[in-house]
Amino acid sequence: SPSTDRGTVEQFLRAVPDFPEPGIRFWDLTPVLADAEGLAATTRLLSEPVADAAVDVVVGIEARGFLLGAAVAQALGLGIVPVRKQGKLPAVAASRSYDLEYGSATLELPAGVLAAGTRALLVDDVLATGGTAAAASELVESCGAHVAALSVVLELPALSGRARLGDRPLHAVLER
Ligand code: PRP
Repeated sequence: SPSTDRGTVEQFLRAVPDFPEPGIRFWDLTPVLADAEGLAATTRLLSEPVADAAVDVVVGIEARGFLLGAAVAQALGLGIVPVRKQGKLPAVAASRSYDLEYGSATLELPAGVLAAGTRALLVDDVLATGGTAAAASELVESCGAHVAALSVVLELPALSGRARLGDRPLHAVLER
């Protein structure tokens, strides 16, 4: 059941103090994903809330969104498109800069894989300030595709990331 699955995720979730900088608490999903039942539970919890959302494709956000997104795409019978950090893609449809909890970065969407009208499910591990998810959403929409929903494992409500997403539906497995 979803509550059993959430318990499995919580069992393996690890908070790392002062990483990558003093004063930042880093939520590490590595032990969750390393465990077979942890990965299975996480995949179900990310996928099931969007089963009725008419999703056409998964968009995974670098880097942990690649791991989670590929599992979710398999569970939903869909393909996956990566949103990557600047300079990794040979052909770019659009790029967007954004602020992080610590620092700033640019995300890019690959050219030629996201058709106008496509309904995308964005997947990542953590929603903190929401800068990453908002930038990825804007990239998808710049191609004329739609953000059907965003699924994350962990939402940090104190950082108000949800407010950066406007009306786009957000599903968070856990809050911390
Ligand atoms: C982390 C996390 C999210 C983002 C959340 O990734 O995996 O993608 O930050 O932060 P935000 O809501 O404040 O934007 P990070 O930028 O560390 O990149 P990585 O996964 O490539 O290490």
